[in-house]
Amino acid sequence: MKVLVTGGAGYIGSHTCVELIKNGHEIVVVDNFANSHPKAIERVKAIVGKDFPFIEINICDTEALDKVCADHKPDCVIHFAGLKAVAESVSIPLNYYENNIVSTINLLRAMEKHGIKHLIFSSSATVYRADNEMPLTEDSTRGCTNPYGWTKYMCEQIITDAVKARGNCSAVLLRYFNPIGAHESGTIGEDPSGVPNNLLPYLSQTAVGKHKELPVTGADYDTPDGTGIRDYIHVSDLATGHVAAIEYATKVEGAHPFNLGTGKGTSVLEMIHTFEKVNGVKVPYRITDRRPGDSGVSYADPAKAHELLNWKAVKTPEEAYADTWRWQTNNPNGYQD
Ligand code: NAD
Ligand code: WQD
Repeated sequence: MKVLVTGGAGYIGSHTCVELIKNGHEIVVVDNFANSHPKAIERVKAIVGKDFPFIEINICDTEALDKVCADHKPDCVIHFAGLKAVAESVSIPLNYYENNIVSTINLLRAMEKHGIKHLIFSSSATVYRADNEMPLTEDSTRGCTNPYGWTKYMCEQIITDAVKARGNCSAVLLRYFNPIGAHESGTIGEDPSGVPNNLLPYLSQTAVGKHKELPVTGADYDTPDGTGIRDYIHVSDLATGHVAAIEYATKVEGAHPFNLGTGKGTSVLEMIHTFEKVNGVKVPYRITDRRPGDSGVSYADPAKAHELLNWKAVKTPEEAYADTWRWQTNNPNGYQD
């Protein structure tokens, strides 16, 4: 299968490119480096020992996207490209709505024009309301608290409607829980610009000495140790989920949502202590106020993906923390070194 990967220089995209090639797919990658670095592409090529076409375009540019589809004739698209910082989406919502939604509409039009039948879309567990019972199933109530989340919610709806109207085509909407970890080689990983928003990048940068201490944002939740619980999933497991999703997409019609999570929750303090043990380092931390809008507990019911995609997360938290630490210590400044 020839797969067009949008946003393939990014964190999840780069790991998925590795897995796609390992599984015999041909790939064509596009990215505008809005939140990534060309080195990620070079390093993916080094890991797989293969070259593949990369084209630097903004996928909101209709003509540029059209040319990529005409030149490369993909059979399928995995659409990672998007802006993803929650707080930033609150301060510049129109940039988020424009980039994430226009790019998705453009892609759907290009797919129809070029007869590309299958789409795998990067959605998020953020589409679920915080007041659902746990674990979250694909039928849990949806609703968002920030513009970033609404772009995912709206794109899911746009894709579902477009696929239905077009007929004889399919989309898999992958709702990722909390991606963590890095490729076992330690050569590709998450490279947040500025101060990280997410827990594990902040934690590992604290362990390497970039921050004095990790703020533990809330220890008064209704959880065993009071800190927030999330379903952290290794990025390489997410990557194999995309390979499974392609196979499924070729067998079905219509749009189908799937949770990609482990089904297990981990608290902030559990993560700190296990990270310290696995990597033999100290992580200074301080309990602070809750982050506005945060929920106490969120984890997936991944049964639908087990059953229909024949996919399961297999990596342990210990592997994820060791892989993150290898990436962090080999690349203290991410791809800038
Ligand atoms: P990332 O920022 O590392 O990767 C996204 C890539 O898309 C970047 O390389 C960026 O340069 C590119 N991009 C953005 N807009 C573009 C455009 N208009 N044209 C071309 N390229 C563009 O993010 P990630 O963590 O790899 O996430 C990938 C996808 O998964 C995103 O859609 C994100 O919203 C979604 N997601 C991420 C998480 C997470 O916590 N990382 C969780 C759930 C869902
Ligand atoms: C995890 C836990 C925090 C930072 C976010 C987005 C979501 C999705 C994934 C894309 C929580 C605590 C955090 C810190 C801490 N992205 N924490 N100190 O909030 O579950 O999800 O990323 O779709 O949309 O909202 O992940 O990593 O920010 O937080 O104690 O410095 O760590 O309170 O309990 P979150 P996170």
